[in-house]
Amino acid sequence: MWCVSKANTFQFTAFHQLTPLAQYGILLVMKMHATALAHPNIAFIKYWGLEDEARRIPSNGSISMNIGGLATTTTVAFDSDLKEDTFTLNGDHVTGQGLLRVQHFMDRIRRLADTTRHAHITSHNNFPMGAGLASSASGFAALALAGTAALGLELTDRQLSSLAHFGSGSACRSIPGGFVEWLVDPLTGESYAVSIAPFDHWKLVDCIAILSDQHKPVGSEAGMRMAGSSPLQEARVADVDRRLETCRQAILNRDFESLAKVTELDSNMMHAVMMTADPPLYYWQPESLAVMSAVKAWQQEGFPITFTLDAGPNVHVITTQGVSKEIINRLHRIPGVLAVLTGAPAGAARLLPQDSPS
Ligand code: DP6
Repeated sequence: MWCVSKANTFQFTAFHQLTPLAQYGILLVMKMHATALAHPNIAFIKYWGLEDEARRIPSNGSISMNIGGLATTTTVAFDSDLKEDTFTLNGDHVTGQGLLRVQHFMDRIRRLADTTRHAHITSHNNFPMGAGLASSASGFAALALAGTAALGLELTDRQLSSLAHFGSGSACRSIPGGFVEWLVDPLTGESYAVSIAPFDHWKLVDCIAILSDQHKPVGSEAGMRMAGSSPLQEARVADVDRRLETCRQAILNRDFESLAKVTELDSNMMHAVMMTADPPLYYWQPESLAVMSAVKAWQQEGFPITFTLDAGPNVHVITTQGVSKEIINRLHRIPGVLAVLTGAPAGAARLLPQDSPS
């Protein structure tokens, strides 16, 4: 969509070049709908466990990178005739728990705007869902932005991030751009994420070895409730400030060796907690270990490379853009690797022109 920027000079400005305020204004005049795009993110320092479930305050801080190329695009269209929100994901009508989770999140947005209107929500992920690729992060970040914009709400990035975290904790990290840290305000308990470096700060690539595109048997929400039953969770949380500081400095100084060390340690610590919970959770599969071992061998050859796994079997292999082609070729040759998705660090969640496909 194109907009006249100055009525009598006949200059045209692309919609995405307008200020967020101007975008909201135009969306309001048109119709109560908006489309937003957000990227998933991969955490170097993981969020696992909640200190306060009702306010979704994490047991520990986390640091991540938005993954370019992978995205959720969501359109929210309010309709005064609707009796309840509808939700379509990748062309399928969502019902049950999936729909309820989205409806509860929409209730929050409605309360902010003091409205009772319901909406049609249409969402599309261009990557497999439910296999540890954090589709809920990009999903709730895009929904927070599209939902509030459709109602003409003007939220700061901090407010938007805080709102998104109520949908899914890691979603707050998909609102700001590039390399991102999730913080908790010690005074108010407000939970939100900020960018610590822009997307073009460091030319990294996340090469995701897809070993399964099936839904994980135990989702993060249920898994996290069990974190406290592991005797290792306390030690993991007690040491997190040190790991966060190491990771922050490694990113700011583009120190790959240090990033690799802390990233693997943090991933292994989280999985150790999962495996020692009651009942235990095993997200790794034999092929996950094969990829992790290969990464360790390639490190010995001198490649800047590291791995991290979320709540799923797929392995995020982080490397630099200079060697990523070679690494992708090698990953494809490992038995059990079904596909390799790649993404460079990406920018913030953003509104799209209305005629974009969702
Ligand atoms: C393993 O953000 O999906 O990916 O807040 O319950 O929606 P909920 O959990 P979610 O958990 C992500 C956990 C993780 C680690 C991380 O991304 O930090």
